[in-house]
Amino acid sequence: MPSGSAQAISEAAARHAQQSEDMMREAGPDPLLGASIHSDEDAMHRAVHLGEGVRGTTAPNPWVGAVLVTVDDEIYEGATEPPPGRHAEIVALGAARSAGADPAGATLYTTLEPCSHTGRTAPCIDAIIAAGISRVVVGVTDPDPHVAGSGVDALRAARIEVDVGVAADAVLLSLRPYLHQRQTGRPWVVLKLAATLDGRTAAPDGTSQWITSPEARADAHGLRARCDAVLVGAGTVRADDPSLTVRELPPTDPHRPLLDMREARDDPTDVPFARTAADRLDPRRFVLGMAPAEAKVQPCIEVSGALRSVVPRLADDGVVELLVEGGANIAGELHRDGLIDEYVVYLAPALAGGDDGLPMQAGTGAQSIDDFWRGEIADLGRVGPDLRITMFPAAPDSP
Ligand SMILES: NC(=O)c1ccc[n+]([C@@H]2O[C@H](COP(=O)([O-])OP(=O)(O)OC[C@H]3O[C@@H](n4cnc5c(N)ncnc54)[C@H](OP(=O)(O)O)[C@@H]3O)[C@@H](O)[C@H]2O)c1
Repeated sequence: MPSGSAQAISEAAARHAQQSEDMMREAGPDPLLGASIHSDEDAMHRAVHLGEGVRGTTAPNPWVGAVLVTVDDEIYEGATEPPPGRHAEIVALGAARSAGADPAGATLYTTLEPCSHTGRTAPCIDAIIAAGISRVVVGVTDPDPHVAGSGVDALRAARIEVDVGVAADAVLLSLRPYLHQRQTGRPWVVLKLAATLDGRTAAPDGTSQWITSPEARADAHGLRARCDAVLVGAGTVRADDPSLTVRELPPTDPHRPLLDMREARDDPTDVPFARTAADRLDPRRFVLGMAPAEAKVQPCIEVSGALRSVVPRLADDGVVELLVEGGANIAGELHRDGLIDEYVVYLAPALAGGDDGLPMQAGTGAQSIDDFWRGEIADLGRVGPDLRITMFPAAPDSP
């Protein structure tokens, strides 16, 4: 097959569409699933779960989930496919049709407002209207200027009942990075660090593998799977030679079926152009500075310049959720520029026992207690013997 030809692209896209549809069909119609959906909120929570399962594989598109409930109470599901694949609503409609079900009169639940413009795919609203759907339940409207309420307006103009805001808290929690990227023009930046309890990220000789446990490292692979790109500094590449791929996931991670699908495939190179969702669990890799040709992070994209310019450029390049995995110099610069949206720190029950190891953030920090940066703990949990702390910047009006 000629790599990169129009035929290769369309054949590969058709194959991954089929794989995705096979996966979705496995879940519906399912009497057990139907028994667990009693309300609009139940259906929307299920849609959020479906979207989370493809998070990290859909950029520059959002990770949307959709649930279609037919007039016979049969349930079909969809989630966004990797570009140039279908949007979640179309996958759910396709799953119903593949099973011989008629979507006319059905209710469609979707975490994000259906699109009304032609991008890589045709407008979802056209397919929804043509299918005769009677009611569309939307989690949140899409701030993308191409949509911004026009999807909802078009559905209502077609006399389809539309409800917006069902289970909105859960939807906002899931889609917050996408909404942030479209609203600010910057990716959602997650800084992940592994540190001793006294805050050291490497010993004085530069060694840091491993501060935390295998369980914590597998958990961090879940973060990589969730994000569509990862950034490290050249210092980290020189010291650790990381590959930054997704190799392990905790058993409960929503990406697990995709990882299993990748492991099951005989020849992982047989889709030459349009990669499948499973391939895309590995984030795009960016290095700040130069990466040696033989570094395990290759193939990677080298970037340089002030981070306040580099980070928005990554959004222009389609990055929605960016994981920064150190080191201390990058972490310090990003932090001082206010570019970090989520801090994930794994703390090991270990002490470096001095101040000569590498800190979490290098550079000149706050000079007085009044200038200390404050955040809000969003989550605190044990991962094996370690702690995982997730923190967001404090809201502007916090004390
Ligand atoms: N515990 C953890 O979670 C963790 C995570 C990662 C790393 N580490 C440890 O941290 C250490 C590495 O951290 P580090 O602070 O030394 O290095 P780093 O932050 O990974 O990288 C710093 C390097 O990035 C390049 N760079 C920085 N800003 C740049 C810019 N604006 N444009 C172009 N290039 C830029 C420079 O490379 P050049 O010098 O080539 O110009 C600079 O020396 C290692 O010991 C590693 O083991 C620990």
